[in-house]
Amino acid sequence: MTDAPDRPIEAALFAPLLIAWQRTRGRHTLPWQQLGAARDAYRVWLAEVMLQQTQVAAVIPFYRRFLDRFPDVRALAEASLDDVMQRWSGLGYYSRARNLHAAARQVVERHGGQFPEDPALLETLPGVGRSTAGAIAAFAFARKAAILDGNVKRVLARVFLVEGDQRPAAYTARMWALSESLLPDADIERYTQGLMDLGATVCTPRRPACLICPLETRCLAHRASREEDLPMRVARKPLPERRTALLLVTRGDRVFLERRPPSGIWGGLWSLPEIPPDDADSLDAARRRFDAPGPVQTGPGFVHGFTHFVLHADTVRISAGPAVDTRCEDPAGASRWVRFDELAQLGLPTPVRALLATRAREP
Ligand code: ADE
Repeated sequence: MTDAPDRPIEAALFAPLLIAWQRTRGRHTLPWQQLGAARDAYRVWLAEVMLQQTQVAAVIPFYRRFLDRFPDVRALAEASLDDVMQRWSGLGYYSRARNLHAAARQVVERHGGQFPEDPALLETLPGVGRSTAGAIAAFAFARKAAILDGNVKRVLARVFLVEGDQRPAAYTARMWALSESLLPDADIERYTQGLMDLGATVCTPRRPACLICPLETRCLAHRASREEDLPMRVARKPLPERRTALLLVTRGDRVFLERRPPSGIWGGLWSLPEIPPDDADSLDAARRRFDAPGPVQTGPGFVHGFTHFVLHADTVRISAGPAVDTRCEDPAGASRWVRFDELAQLGLPTPVRALLATRAREP
């Protein structure tokens, strides 16, 4: 018997088809799935946080290095934020690293070093939203918990032909209810992984591979040839642009770095001091501060895209005067001269690291 063309797949069939597909066609060799890793909540949590805004291939080397340095939640809780930021540096979205560190301390202080199993409690950890909490509960504790990230929203919107603007809270609530209604009573780990795998490898935003999809004949969007229309795309406004000028102050084999405040962009990372662009007074003040004997050189730096704006950074190159020594440094440690060969040990924003690597030694 075939289904009527406009009837959605029965909820009871969705999970078994996905689980069977995951067994044969899903991903099984990701490092956080390796033997011993599958049910270790610390490893699951770490992987899920790293994967929040970053693709699998980019995460893998960071995940391995991070685990080498911080093998369990206590090691992470006891580490300095600097050390954590340095291991995170390059992965971007640095609030994740700050939250990770705070969450590790919370797990140790409030939960005796054991991750809670209840998704509602997991969600109280900094940096753990509802979907991440569901993924950790499912993978680490086999809890019947739902996930709803961008990939899952796309799969569900297509299979069940959910129309409409994705932005209103009512849409999200509806998708959560749908995701919860589909959960199987057993094999939740494989089911959850299957949903992620299908979204990442088959039900892709563009040109989904419907021919090899286990839900092909039952997907309402596919039956209506509308899979690429769903979920409805939201027209994005162009991102606002910001400009800044970075002071690249050198003194022999050292460069002057400041630690950024804990919140905001690049929070907690070491970076170059900033002044407003094209501002003669600030430039003068910077020259005096560093006793610059000669003229300063201003030039292009980099353009870096953040989620909410695009940053255009100029660079102002200053050779500090011979009399400038530690007097520029903050006694509390928020700024200091750093040797170029020490840079690898510090957490630096990626474009700043690249700028220092390629331009710092130019005359
Ligand atoms: N994205 C988010 N979580 C994931 C996981 N566990 N495996 C692969 N991709 C993911």
